[in-house]
Amino acid sequence: MTFFAPENLGLQPTGLALLRDLVHEHTGLFYDESKFEMFGDRLAPLVIERRFRSFLDFYYLLKYDEREAPSEWRKVVDALSVPETYFWREIEQLRGLACRLLPEIVKVQRHQPIRIWSVPCATGEEPLTIAMVLEETGWFDRVPIEIHGSDGSAAAIAKATVGKYRDRSFRALPADLREKYFVSENGTSMPVPALQRRVTSWSVVNLLDIPTVATYAACPVIVCRNAFIYFSPQSVKKVVEVFADHMLAPGYLLVGASESLLNMTDRFALEDLDHAFAYVKR
Ligand SMILES: C[S@@+](CC[C@H](N)C(=O)[O-])C[C@H]1O[C@@H](n2cnc3c(N)ncnc32)[C@H](O)[C@@H]1O
Repeated sequence: MTFFAPENLGLQPTGLALLRDLVHEHTGLFYDESKFEMFGDRLAPLVIERRFRSFLDFYYLLKYDEREAPSEWRKVVDALSVPETYFWREIEQLRGLACRLLPEIVKVQRHQPIRIWSVPCATGEEPLTIAMVLEETGWFDRVPIEIHGSDGSAAAIAKATVGKYRDRSFRALPADLREKYFVSENGTSMPVPALQRRVTSWSVVNLLDIPTVATYAACPVIVCRNAFIYFSPQSVKKVVEVFADHMLAPGYLLVGASESLLNMTDRFALEDLDHAFAYVKR
């Protein structure tokens, strides 16, 4: 194995496979042979920052150093995070949430706020899109709704909390909605306070932290899109099982258009939403 980035020169790859497996166990993220070198390149700066000579030393720190490991894990997740996201992404599915799924939920869940958990939400575009869709369809005037945004990357959540977005994030959002829900200043755009307030909370949550996920999952809607593509099948199964154990009924799990739970679980059934789909808890 070679590490081409100049700053990585001199670093021994010893322990890289062990580190890959530890990261898999801790986060669900899996790097097969084709992505192994990229994995090394992403983590090499952290190893060098610690003045270690090999990945093995870094592995020992993450695995056994109880004092240092938590803050180092945050850096690892930030380094591996792919926070690629944008407003109005895979919008048909969120329209289906508003027009098909929420009416089913309100029939049953009458006395408590309807909680929607967007995880992982990266830098916040997804929960803000859900808020815009529900605003446009009048849901906030009808029932109390909470939208919670979580991601494993503390850096992504810090950006979501500040809420400053560049043009890339707006590539799919219709211009009139950008005009209505955002104010622009010095090359960035921020959600108007009324929209920002629609997202009830932002938090750092690792999807493989099962006790924490169990608490958040106690809701009728989980929007978990474009994360499982980076997970191993066994990690997806583990997370989906926790969702199924704790979600309310009716409970809907929305995954990305390129993600499928086929052969992963029998706890959810596929429901067609017209040009999109959802998984319904059985
Ligand atoms: C491509 S973004 C998806 C954002 C959004 N759901 C969307 O579809 O546009 C993937 C996100 O997964 C997050 N992530 C990766 N592993 C995670 C884990 N174990 N727990 C929570 N978030 C994780 C990354 O930090 C990144 O922000």
